[in-house]
Amino acid sequence: MTLLTTENLKKYFGETRAVDGVTLTINQGEVLSLVGPNGAGKTTLVNLISGLIRPPDAGKILFQDTDVTFMPPQDRIRVGIARSFQIVNLFDQLTALDNIRLAIFSRKGKTKSLLRLAENDREVREEALEILDQFGIEDKRNIVAGGLAQGERKLLDVAVAYALRPTLLLLDEPTSGVSTRDKGKIMDTISGVVRSGQITAAIVEHDMDVVFTYSDRIVVMHQGKVLADGTPDEIRTNEEVTITLLGTSKADWSEYRTH
Ligand SMILES: Nc1ncnc2c1ncn2[C@@H]1O[C@H](COP(=O)(O)OP(=O)(O)OP(=O)(O)O)[C@@H](O)[C@H]1O
Ligand SMILES: [Mg+2]
Repeated sequence: MTLLTTENLKKYFGETRAVDGVTLTINQGEVLSLVGPNGAGKTTLVNLISGLIRPPDAGKILFQDTDVTFMPPQDRIRVGIARSFQIVNLFDQLTALDNIRLAIFSRKGKTKSLLRLAENDREVREEALEILDQFGIEDKRNIVAGGLAQGERKLLDVAVAYALRPTLLLLDEPTSGVSTRDKGKIMDTISGVVRSGQITAAIVEHDMDVVFTYSDRIVVMHQGKVLADGTPDEIRTNEEVTITLLGTSKADWSEYRTH
């Protein structure tokens, strides 16, 4: 079932056609990866879908049959679209637990009650601890976000977006800047949570090992357009894709590196 559709979406910055007529669908329950060279328009597309940039210069965004093209980001969160950022977006002075609690409070529309001791704080705390546990960082609950290792910070950042209980979770480079070993851990965690929570994830990712391992479907962007859309097997051997990303028609992904 289709969860989200973009129709001929466009966003130009002066001469730069960051997103240049993107039509794509995101299906319920899938892990979709969005790949492409630096500057391909991936973040801009996520910004358009999450409402951080709005409105687009042209086109439409439909989420569960509702036109959300002009909706402010907080309303999109309410209807079920949450995102994480390419650079983590945490309160560094707050503990891991409090970062999650804050997301839960904001979801419940009770940020004000943080100032006094909320009567339902116990419930929120329990939910926050459960989320930290799902992401394997429950033992870090009392450490301030600024004091966590990079891989843990990325996990916490995704956990904060997840705490908003979205239907669609958009993740912009959840594994960037972490070791290869931690990448696997982060993606195992994310895909496990996505599958058990029956939510949908659209993930911007550069590491093609990660992309081929964890995606149900891959969308390749290039110069603001969708170059290819298919299963990992289809994308791995797609000649247009290998020429654009690898510079050769030979599908040898072992040497592919960006960033
Ligand atoms: N706010 C902005 N003002 C001007 N140009 C912008 C802005 N945001 C993005 N761009 C340009 O739009 C193009 C697409 O950028 P975008 O950040 O979406 O690419 P990306 O695929 O996410 O790249 P990366 O892999 O490096 O994160 C680039 O040429 C970028 O310089
Ligand atoms: Mg980007």
